[in-house]
Amino acid sequence: METHSFYKISPAENFGKGKQAQKGLGVALISYSRGCRISLVPSSESFCTSITWESLTSKAERGNFEVSMSETLKIYTYPDPVLRTPTEEVVDIDEETQKLIDQMAETMYAAPGIGLAANQVGVAKSIVVYDLTPKDKGRNLSVLINPEIVSSEGRIVFDEACLSVIDFSAEVARSAMVKVRGFDRHGRPVDIEAEGLLAICLQHEIDHLKGKLFIDYVSSLKRALYKKKLKKMMKKSKVSNT
Ligand code: NI
Repeated sequence: METHSFYKISPAENFGKGKQAQKGLGVALISYSRGCRISLVPSSESFCTSITWESLTSKAERGNFEVSMSETLKIYTYPDPVLRTPTEEVVDIDEETQKLIDQMAETMYAAPGIGLAANQVGVAKSIVVYDLTPKDKGRNLSVLINPEIVSSEGRIVFDEACLSVIDFSAEVARSAMVKVRGFDRHGRPVDIEAEGLLAICLQHEIDHLKGKLFIDYVSSLKRALYKKKLKKMMKKSKVSNT
């Protein structure tokens, strides 16, 4: 598990020199290991720019934009093997688990995303956090521990994306309705009857816990094309980081 401090910047500015550093990203990451240089984070991959923390804060002081900080975790991305490792049941919802849940929530909101599974941040525990509330309605965090789908019916097709699969979306067919059983963060049993986006989100996140990604449902041709694109992107980011 890797912790980063994220600095949310509003309004978003163009900080960078690379293609990745474009207007509208709005989230910068201070990487301590790189001596306080700033990386722009389109999703979870960090792309370094030449701007220093000092120049960022001095700009902020001049009122160009606001900087706020929250602690988040590194989100592992495809094809990292950690995403393929099935998680283990949580047997004790201790302090450490509570801290992990809070950090997962911060990471999800900062990304931003509507759901996150623990193995996406490198922890092999059966925990998901999600929030489908529209942005302007504030936060309404849900936590599910050891969730399982107990029944499902119908079929729904939706264009899915994932914080661990950068720059990719594809239509996936899933059950239109699911019943999910698990525990909340206080250890109380939870039964959810979900349909629509919630049903999709829960199936997507529970898949994560089993080491499965939404990209597994797309055709092998689409997957191969994405792998090719990913390779190109990784090459480019290496070049712009040097
Ligand atoms: Ni996902």
